[in-house]
Amino acid sequence: MRASDRRRMSVNRRKWDESVPLHVAAPAYDVPSFLRGRSTLQPLEIREMGSVREKSLLHLQCHFGLDTLSWARRGARVTGVDFSLAAVQAARRLAREVGLRARFIQSNVYDLPRALEERFDIVYTGKGAMCWLPDVDRWAEIVTTCLKPGGRFYLLEDHPFAEVFPNDPPITKLEPKIPYFGTRASREEYDGTYATRTKMKHKVSYSWMHPVAETLSALTRNGLEVASVREYPFSYWHRYPFMKQDAHGYWHLTRQQGLIPLMWSVMARRTAPGDAPQSITDKEARHRPPSRS
Ligand SMILES: C[S@@+](CC[C@H](N)C(=O)[O-])C[C@H]1O[C@@H](n2cnc3c(N)ncnc32)[C@H](O)[C@@H]1O
Repeated sequence: MRASDRRRMSVNRRKWDESVPLHVAAPAYDVPSFLRGRSTLQPLEIREMGSVREKSLLHLQCHFGLDTLSWARRGARVTGVDFSLAAVQAARRLAREVGLRARFIQSNVYDLPRALEERFDIVYTGKGAMCWLPDVDRWAEIVTTCLKPGGRFYLLEDHPFAEVFPNDPPITKLEPKIPYFGTRASREEYDGTYATRTKMKHKVSYSWMHPVAETLSALTRNGLEVASVREYPFSYWHRYPFMKQDAHGYWHLTRQQGLIPLMWSVMARRTAPGDAPQSITDKEARHRPPSRS
């Protein structure tokens, strides 16, 4: 990895460290209802993931652990990884508070092979994770390394095409600003984050665009067999001001409903010796929000 990308990730880490206490207190994360038992997982990720009971699950870029602990509530043996010490410490505190067994490790995803030797049944990531990674090929290699043969990888993420239309400062209509095929880091400088507009000492962050084909190719090149890819015209979060929430909790564009993909998911599997190859299937209805289960 280039030294310049390492430096950019250090800049990002400082902003993440500062954002953690703000996010723990932010209405957008609604920690009080999580403490009362709310799951932060989306209905469709619960459905697409299937049972996690008794499975070992590694959550990459777990932030302060709400999703990780929500998987623990569904019976998984969870390990969360994040490079922000503040995030990992907050996650440990939350786990203690709700009485869940969980392990949280501070590590950059790219340094994980040094921090963790274990192999997992499931590697899970997403919902605002991939855009912070400069090198998807190396990331995919690490994902594969962390999986047992036959283990599952699951990603639910902002669709990279939606990243073409940044919302900082808040926009009134979709205007393309970031190249979908861009390979350079985008630099942003503003107070707050997607979840808070608080004044901050660390205002700068860098993000990277990863088109769908780049991520899928990296996964397959590194020993994963892609079982499903799904694209959705709605989002798990209030991404733009001109969105409306449906009864299932998903956010839809109001004026340009269905115009662009906002979210996507990938299920893949680390092949085990002797496996027959499978093909990509996408039999699910793409424009219908799944019911909450
Ligand atoms: C938007 S949050 C993750 C989303 C999570 N689903 C949530 O909403 O809480 C992104 C996380 O990625 C972490 N992160 C960013 N770059 C990282 C890296 N290179 N290695 C490990 N963690 C990283 C940040 O510290 C932050 O906690």
